[in-house]
Amino acid sequence: MAHDAPLLSALAGDRPASPPVWFMRQAGRSLPEYRELRVGTRMLDACLTPDLAAEITLQPVRRHNVDAAVFFSDIVVPLKIAGIEVEIEPGRGPVFADPVRTADDVRRITSVPAEEIAHNADPIREAVRITTEELYGRGTPLIGFAGAPFTLAAYMVEGGPSKDHMRARAMMHADPQSWHRLAGWLSEVAAVFLQVQVDAGASAVQLFDSWAGSLSTSDYRTFVAPHSKRALDAVPGVPKIHFGVGTGPFLADMRLGGSADAVGVDWRMPLDEAAAIVGPDVTLQGNIDPAMLQAPWEALEEHVREVVLAGRAARAHIVNLGHGVPPDTDPDQLTRIVELVHSL
Ligand code: CP3
Repeated sequence: MAHDAPLLSALAGDRPASPPVWFMRQAGRSLPEYRELRVGTRMLDACLTPDLAAEITLQPVRRHNVDAAVFFSDIVVPLKIAGIEVEIEPGRGPVFADPVRTADDVRRITSVPAEEIAHNADPIREAVRITTEELYGRGTPLIGFAGAPFTLAAYMVEGGPSKDHMRARAMMHADPQSWHRLAGWLSEVAAVFLQVQVDAGASAVQLFDSWAGSLSTSDYRTFVAPHSKRALDAVPGVPKIHFGVGTGPFLADMRLGGSADAVGVDWRMPLDEAAAIVGPDVTLQGNIDPAMLQAPWEALEEHVREVVLAGRAARAHIVNLGHGVPPDTDPDQLTRIVELVHSL
């Protein structure tokens, strides 16, 4: 893998000629070629079919010419291969057959050794191997990923998607010991899943804490950050991106004491403001407003130029959205963004 790939330079703190650009959820329903491939296959079955997962990972790279691929999988895949009963309901998200709510539930689930995941991960290894064979021929890095302990727990404790993740946040205070046991186990789950992808060829990793924005700063520091930090520290030797939505109030904490090389910023805070908060030792990733993808190109173009300009305040900048690509996005808007950013 070429270390001068723009994504890897930016993660190391250098500024390549133009900023690298990729999109969270670039693989998926915004692409007609994805929808066609997925007909008749359930989401998690697709993730565990190596040829299919590799092909879906590569589709947006070929179409948009982005500077990174993100491995097609899901944050619940390591739990599925650990033997936990979970499915992804279309239009809804991950749903668990047995929510993890009591101290006994936590003891039961955390008795599964996280190493189990590494033993059952051959479909992941094979998919990464097929993907990187094509990608590295064109000098494009593969980003591996995992769900952060809080975001995973938010689904597991609730049993499915929820608005404010009340049950997971309540457990922190009602039974702190069970909370730390669960989050500690999930940090091992994340670490093992990341390590499998890195060992098979991924050149960088991203930890998704999509729902961290529902936490108070104090709860984030006490109950969440130490577990997320442990997940990243357990995977040495690759650059790491730490992403959350609504994390402006504790953005500096998202650096995890230097364990993250880049911090993701959502669309709410301009990148120059974010740079002043996180300081000169970290790269920023973001933060095109996903809603702007629906705007006429002229308005979107102006917005992207503003994002790139504000990103100059950071030590380095990886252009991305503030959150994932909405499924109803016109994919041509994404291709135009890549062309524009590469021309700057
Ligand atoms: O391009 C990529 O980013 C591909 C890989 C990817 C997927 N999920 C594929 C997927 C990644 C990085 C994820 C992570 C993920 N999964 C997160 C964190 C990122 C974020 O968006 O905040 C979260 C919260 C999940 C949980 C999850 N999985 C949700 C909420 C959903 C959507 C459910 C729906 O139908 O609306 C999924 C399913 C999912 N994961 C899809 C894809 C492409 C859609 C499945 C389909 O095609 O039906």
